[in-house]
Amino acid sequence: LLTTAIVSTLSFGFSSAASAETAGTSNWTIEDASKIERTDDTTAPYIEPDFEKMAPELHVWDTWPLREKDGSIAKVNGYYVIFSLTADSDLLPGKRHDVATIRYFYSKDGKSWELGGKAFDTKQAYGSRQWAGSAMIEDGKLNLFYTATGRKGEESVTYEQRLALATGDVEANGKGISFSNFDHSIILEPEGKYYQTEEQAEAGDIAYTFRDPWFFEDPKTGKDYILFEGNSAGTPSERTLDRAYIGSEDFQSSFDFVNEDFAKLFNGAIGIAEATNDSYTEFEAMEPLLEANYVNQELERPHIVTKGNQYYLFTNTHEHKFGPDLSAPDGLYGFSSDQLTSGYEPLNDSGLVLANPENHAYQAYSWMVLPNGKVISFYNFHDLDGKNIADLGGTSPEYQMSHFGGTLAPTLKIALQNDRTKVVNEQAPGKIK
Ligand code: FRU
Repeated sequence: LLTTAIVSTLSFGFSSAASAETAGTSNWTIEDASKIERTDDTTAPYIEPDFEKMAPELHVWDTWPLREKDGSIAKVNGYYVIFSLTADSDLLPGKRHDVATIRYFYSKDGKSWELGGKAFDTKQAYGSRQWAGSAMIEDGKLNLFYTATGRKGEESVTYEQRLALATGDVEANGKGISFSNFDHSIILEPEGKYYQTEEQAEAGDIAYTFRDPWFFEDPKTGKDYILFEGNSAGTPSERTLDRAYIGSEDFQSSFDFVNEDFAKLFNGAIGIAEATNDSYTEFEAMEPLLEANYVNQELERPHIVTKGNQYYLFTNTHEHKFGPDLSAPDGLYGFSSDQLTSGYEPLNDSGLVLANPENHAYQAYSWMVLPNGKVISFYNFHDLDGKNIADLGGTSPEYQMSHFGGTLAPTLKIALQNDRTKVVNEQAPGKIK
């Protein structure tokens, strides 16, 4: 880090030299992540559990708003729209991922949400269930990007993940908004060169991810991309250590792995692919924007907000997805760069942007930063009594049922200033406007 900073200062004015220095995938290093610590600026306020759920008959978790192609929040005939992963609320919360269904809600004021229904007929969709994505409206057509997880008709639940697009017509009138005439396409699968395939992962890895497509039009070039959650290519157990994953030379010289063989299995990556046609059905994978080799296993729901000349890249991860050399909370993490595909440095030195309060460490998850600085998330799990849970599996069914939130959490407003962020205030649950 120190070396990069000096080089870019010296080469100020010679932009080609500076960008050559920062070309390619950025690393979230062990040094960066070892600085993760809750501060007043990065800790969310405690959420009082007893607020009204947006849809009591449903568990609601990962949520994304309908946007215009340029990333701004769309208003269609007077309605805002959000899409959410949902499941029946009588289901054990830890089981919800196996049956996730994308539903939508609409609203005139951008905070009181009316349930619209299923986004599309799931029989026609790819996957045995559909996981998170993003949504964009262009020329009156809905482009709903999603993760096709598993395969239709599978006998038991499998975890194959492919990026998919559903395009549909939009109808809005005085009674609400609805979608119809969907076409579904698979738009990207891991190719094994930049992103790990399921086969590469099976050969001795802890988990594999290829999901959460998020559409992005680069305001500097007008080119269209999807970002997604993936893993660095190859079989991690066969990888040799690149010492840059550890951090600066100074830090490297004083660092010893707790368990290097286990640490090398952590290979979270933020992927990017460029659209190669105008209908967004074909994309070409590019080198990852960022990798967290030896640092973290799951960089979920990556997304970008631009401000001035800067790209702010955000992702979510869990406490238990950090490698053995690190201890860090469930949180929203972020990085910034003045280039889309390289040069990302962690925000607030470590990357931490938002964590739950220490005594309520799992109260919210799956944060998404909107272009207006509002951050939505879902109310996850309250009053865990300090227990460390891996995705709720470690708690009794009764405990899961009575402590799962399953609705949008209070919105937070954050300020972005250069490479720092700050929680400014708390707003109504699910407020996007
Ligand atoms: C984040 C997440 C996403 C995935 C979804 C599945 O909460 O793990 O990455 O799409 O949940 O339910």
